[in-house]
Amino acid sequence: MSCSTAPRLAILISGRGSNMQSFIQACASGTLDARIAVVLSNRPDAKGLELAQQAGIPTCALDHREYPDRESFDRAMVAALAPYEPDLVILAGFMRILTPVFITPFTGKLLNIHPSLLPKYPGLHTHQRALDAGDAEAGVTVHFVTPELDGGPPIIQARVPVEPGDTAETLAGRVLVVEHEIYPIAARWLLQGRLQLNNEGVVLDGSPVPATGIDYFKGID
Ligand code: GRF
Repeated sequence: MSCSTAPRLAILISGRGSNMQSFIQACASGTLDARIAVVLSNRPDAKGLELAQQAGIPTCALDHREYPDRESFDRAMVAALAPYEPDLVILAGFMRILTPVFITPFTGKLLNIHPSLLPKYPGLHTHQRALDAGDAEAGVTVHFVTPELDGGPPIIQARVPVEPGDTAETLAGRVLVVEHEIYPIAARWLLQGRLQLNNEGVVLDGSPVPATGIDYFKGID
């Protein structure tokens, strides 16, 4: 398939963009038949913007501090993405709470990755919270985005054991490795038409997905 007919991704970032890079690699290697049409950041100094530019991907910086409220910022983002006609919008370390102004137009084609085993630990400092609670395992969840923060229905989840002596940093590093594996898989399922969000929840290959998502290490294709 030529580049121009491949499904189009818009990736939203706020920082270093390592998950964005996993999409760049997945598209380049052909494991994901898609093209990154644009990378947008709410932080003009995001490291990931430079990486996207080096990869020849169009970028867009919209500084949220220049907008009076979340809704007007979200409206500006919808307008900025419109020319790229994204088939799928990927939140990859995008650190702004979104309103229905952004979420509604992309419902069912808006994904996020969250570094915890949702519904545990929505919000920030997930790894430290898992350590403080004495959890035996941590992990990561890819989910559809709904207006509830980190509360949209899970698609796929990967569990990572907590090791003796783990700090939030060491745990985050091991979780990040599997983040980079599972996020492009969820995108592939959606772009292949195998994955849908409907009124009953998430459906993969015609079957309901469990409430915590498909378990990555139980075998998937
Ligand atoms: C990742 O841990 C992701 O799960 C969370 O924010 C972090 C972003 O990292 N939502 P990066 O910018 O993709 O490297």
